[in-house]
Amino acid sequence: MKLTQSQIHQFEKDGYLFFPSLFTPQEIQSLNIAVPELYDREEAYNIRERGSRAVRTNFAAHMYSTPFGKLARHPRMVQPVEELLGEKLYMHQFKINGKMAFEGDVWQWHQDFGTWLNDDQMPTERAMNVAIFLDDVNAFNGPLMFIPGSHKKGVINAKHDLTTTSYPLWTLDNDAVSQLVTRSGNKNGGIVSPTGPAGSMILFHSCLVHASGSNLSPWNRVSVYLSLCAVSNHIRRFKRPEYIAHRDFTPIICLPDDCLLKDFEIDLPWKNGMPQSALVTNDLEHKSIT
Ligand code: SIN
Ligand code: MN
Repeated sequence: MKLTQSQIHQFEKDGYLFFPSLFTPQEIQSLNIAVPELYDREEAYNIRERGSRAVRTNFAAHMYSTPFGKLARHPRMVQPVEELLGEKLYMHQFKINGKMAFEGDVWQWHQDFGTWLNDDQMPTERAMNVAIFLDDVNAFNGPLMFIPGSHKKGVINAKHDLTTTSYPLWTLDNDAVSQLVTRSGNKNGGIVSPTGPAGSMILFHSCLVHASGSNLSPWNRVSVYLSLCAVSNHIRRFKRPEYIAHRDFTPIICLPDDCLLKDFEIDLPWKNGMPQSALVTNDLEHKSIT
């Protein structure tokens, strides 16, 4: 999928692009049917909401699930990022966020690159998120919120929040968020929330400030996030387990555009369980040059 000049300009200006209904209901169905069984697994890669069985985020499904392994190599998700970064990519992080009906908790205001820099020593912001909606997203089920143009600020001071939710995150303080929102238009577009049917895709810059509220509605808001990093920009520290921050910097080779609807043999290294090495962490710099 090739971006137009006007999409490239819009991305540079706003820090995100929204593609409503980019995937068909049939393609989305092939992913949705796999989610309940993945969420049921008692594994470290399923992070549940505080005090609840509801899954907040499932990590690394592309390593053990065929439909998500195909999605991780999908040209509609990977090629626009390759085009914007001008380089081959590897998978830094892969998650299926639940934001389940009534139970899905907030994601505080943050920049993803803040976490990737502070925790993983990713050298620069040459990485990006691509999100795909597996459910319809509306104003009530905790849509993502962006501050357009905030990616141009680079890395903003953040604090490591270990208590607000079940998942630690480097978060911005309220003053910083207020200032950014005022500068980007305040009540006239200072915060935007792309909403739309299942199958819609959002691509966003790793420094774009974003958040989401809790889901008090009776509708799940399951979304998949591919965090794609330029191969030359691979992480230097393995402080977090491998199922959260991947250590295989092999470039992604895309499958054909219709791969979700066809059978493909793909490599699923963790299909018989995660190796012990995926849980091992260390604070040392990764020395080898790839
Ligand atoms: C994220 O920021 O990584 C996830 C936010 C969300 O799913 O609402
Ligand atoms: Mn994020």
